Amino acid sequence: MRRAIYPGSFDPVTFGHLDIIRRASKIVDELVVCVLNNNSKTPLFSVENRVKMLEEVVRDIPNVKVMSFEGLLVDFAKKIDAQIIVRGLRAVTDFEYELQMSQTNSILDDNIDTIFFTTSLEYAYLSSSTVREAAFYGADISRFVPESVVNQVYERLKDKGEKNE
Ligand code: COA
Repeated sequence: MRRAIYPGSFDPVTFGHLDIIRRASKIVDELVVCVLNNNSKTPLFSVENRVKMLEEVVRDIPNVKVMSFEGLLVDFAKKIDAQIIVRGLRAVTDFEYELQMSQTNSILDDNIDTIFFTTSLEYAYLSSSTVREAAFYGADISRFVPESVVNQVYERLKDKGEKNE
């Protein structure tokens, strides 16, 4: 069974992430999308919410599962018996960080390899923080995130008193 793990913050999931998920799911038996419980970022959504939003948007892809993790990625990958890490490359600027991370991960565990998908051109500009910022200023974010996520972003910003109306 070829199992891959696609880790990230997904705060929130965007069409860019979904593009990587769909394409990666075609080349493995199972893709586990993993939401990192990351102490170094202050997220808009809780891990539980991010997992729920992801579950909703991958519901039509049978070999994709969603989980959350904390700690080292390679430890979690080993725990769930994943041999591949999937990451997306949007632009040259992603490359240095991704290269360093993939090399560190392979030193930590040489049984695991990272494969990179170049993000489709139409999503190359996209990131979760630009989505949050656009929503904050009241922009239409339906071109950036799936329909089921759109209102949740506005609502969450409003709950946190962060929507600029
Ligand atoms: N489409 C849209 N946005 C994308 C994207 C895509 N295809 N690919 C990346 N991004 C954006 C994300 O939305 C995020 O945007 P933001 O910073 O504006 O919120 C940004 O790129 C960072 O991407 P993300 O995938 O969330 O990575 P990360 O840097 O937060 O986390 C982990 C990467 C989870 C893989 C890494 O931190 C990790 O493995 N942590 C565990 C500890 C560990 O093992 N570290 C490595 C060895 S020391």
